[in-house]
Amino acid sequence: MTWNAVFAKHMAAAGVVIMVAVPLATPANASTPTKTYPVSQVKKHNQPTDCWSIVNGRVYNLTGYISRHPGGSARIIGMCGKDGTSAYNGEHRGSSSASAALKPYKIGTLA
Ligand code: HEM
Repeated sequence: MTWNAVFAKHMAAAGVVIMVAVPLATPANASTPTKTYPVSQVKKHNQPTDCWSIVNGRVYNLTGYISRHPGGSARIIGMCGKDGTSAYNGEHRGSSSASAALKPYKIGTLA
């Protein structure tokens, strides 16, 4: 008998229930469901200290990007609480560096 079995037997004799955590099988392609937000919710985050914006149907929390934007903080502050798609696309459409900079700030999509 293995040590584990001996241990389990003694615990069972002592009336102790042993619970073993078995990790649930996760499909390889499992991903966190995307959160969706209505425009009305985005509108509430309209401050430089709490800045959400919409770009091409996706919702971003840009608060942490304001001070990082190479084109100046004012341009990002102007997007807070709004759909910033036209401002963003007007300057950065097709720019892989801008889309790479934007990516980490995504919090979901527009409802
Ligand atoms: C969250 C949205 C935005 C992101 C992630 C972003 C990202 C970037 C990045 C990575 C650069 C560095 C240069 C480059 O790689 O193109 C840049 C520069 C710049 N951005 Fe943005 N940007 C955003 C929004 C805007 C908006 C709304 C405007 C204007 C209305 C704007 C105007 C500029 C300008 C003028 C520069 C400087 C270009 C230069 O000096 O070469 N950006 N931005």
